[in-house]
Amino acid sequence: MICKIPRVIALAYLSFSLTCCVGENADPLLGDIPLIATHFGTKGRYEEVNTYLINDPLAVNETLIRLPSSECSAIHLLTVIRHGTRDPTNKNAKKMTDFYNLVLSNASNWLQKVGLSQWKMWYTEDMDGRLVEKGRMDHTNLAMRLAKSFPTLVTEHNLRNGHIKFVTSSTHRCINSTIAFQRGLKKSFGIEGEDYDYEVNDALMRFFEKCDRFVVEVDKNKSAVVQLEHFLSGPEMKRIYEKMADRLQVPYPAITADMAEAAFYLCAYEFAIKTINSPWCQLFDDVDAQVMEYAGDLKHYWKKSYGHEINSKSSCVLFRDLFNRLDQAANDRRSGKVYEAVTVQVGHAETLIPLLTLLGLFKDVDPLTSTNFATQTGRVFRSGRIVPYASNLVLVLYDCPEGLRLETRLNEQPLMLPKMDTHLPLFEDVKRNYAKLLQGCDQKAVCDLPE
Ligand SMILES: *[C@@H]1O[C@H](CO)[C@@H](O)[C@H](O)[C@H]1NC(C)=O
Ligand SMILES: *[C@@H]1O[C@H](CO)[C@@H](O)[C@H](O)[C@H]1NC(C)=O
Ligand SMILES: *[C@@H]1O[C@H](CO)[C@@H](O)[C@H](O)[C@H]1NC(C)=O
Ligand SMILES: *[C@@H]1O[C@H](CO)[C@@H](O)[C@H](O)[C@H]1NC(C)=O
Repeated sequence: MICKIPRVIALAYLSFSLTCCVGENADPLLGDIPLIATHFGTKGRYEEVNTYLINDPLAVNETLIRLPSSECSAIHLLTVIRHGTRDPTNKNAKKMTDFYNLVLSNASNWLQKVGLSQWKMWYTEDMDGRLVEKGRMDHTNLAMRLAKSFPTLVTEHNLRNGHIKFVTSSTHRCINSTIAFQRGLKKSFGIEGEDYDYEVNDALMRFFEKCDRFVVEVDKNKSAVVQLEHFLSGPEMKRIYEKMADRLQVPYPAITADMAEAAFYLCAYEFAIKTINSPWCQLFDDVDAQVMEYAGDLKHYWKKSYGHEINSKSSCVLFRDLFNRLDQAANDRRSGKVYEAVTVQVGHAETLIPLLTLLGLFKDVDPLTSTNFATQTGRVFRSGRIVPYASNLVLVLYDCPEGLRLETRLNEQPLMLPKMDTHLPLFEDVKRNYAKLLQGCDQKAVCDLPE
């Protein structure tokens, strides 16, 4: 429950913490959140999507945990989860180091003014996106909330008897997320010591690097993201470079797209990893942050989503796997066999975005382009809402008197599938809607390049 802290005490504490250490260790309960925190895109916290978790990381939205009807029972829960909060990759750490060196040598006045002169550059170029402690907690807590939300499926019995299956990408941040998720289940059930298996499966969770057509036509093809290139040299971004240079008092040419991105990352990472409202954030006002967010979304749109058809098609293998698992659980139940209760699949933003796109979700009427930032402020394609750290798609199959029903949630909120008029459509209706993909969408046909 939300714990109300008397305002006077809160303010006294806040002013103390400001004078003592400029935001270091500031208490997030008191709202020391960067004003621009909702614009961090894929570097954003899950808590920005479900703000009630800031006060209680184990809270579940009670209005959502009831069965669709007392006569329905849940048969299978399937979830695809992005890894938790992580360190920067070496590429991004390098950009941040370059930016920091520029500021250190040429903007020391600014550093002093905002109270960063004692700040140490702790991001190193050998960082390769490892899961951090906050990222472990993201998964541990998510597991505990899912156990609370689905008490008939996510059970101690199912865990102990191998009816909860874990599949993960081979990346260390995903494996460690999976282990942290298992730890959360063990905590829920008071189990100690036990280790549970997981399957490493990159064909499923990293399909994007196995799909040749995607790799050649999009991932390694600069022209595929030309909209982003144009935006980075367009008027909105130019304004940011100039404002940053003015704030830092460095020559205009010193601030490039990479520099601006690095500065934005510094603000975002300090917050996501350490929960610090860093003075680095002062380099951006709200409009700047919206523009930076749009640049990120443009990239995801053209590299992972509706920008090119192959982006979503590359996830056919996962799409079909999900529906096969649901079918299998339903068939096994009908024939009285023991069936798998839960499938937990851990991957990346690059796993979730193509899949959600293939499902037809978060599609704006107009494509995102370099010239329509202003008219896209109300867009549904916002990566920070869709795939923050530990973002999760949950599909739950129910056996009801009138037939099987499928519930869909994204980030623990109800999600309506395209063309459905309820959050709990009949499974048959969902399958009819995706009939073409369920029959076609063959990974080999989609991804193979002509000789
Ligand atoms: C809980 O879920 C309901 C239904 O989606 C929503 O209307 C409500 O705002 C949620 N409550 C919180 C605290 O997020
Ligand atoms: C700082 O400015 C000087 C001259 O103004 C320039 O030569 C140097 O490259 C700058 N430092 C960095 C790290 O960009
Ligand atoms: C998981 O995290 C631990 C502790 O940080 C680390 O030592 C280990 O290498 C990680 N595991 C994998 C598979 O990356
Ligand atoms: C690269 O992308 C452009 C734009 O989508 C496309 O026209 C071109 O065929 C692609 N190149 C390759 C090698 O696929």
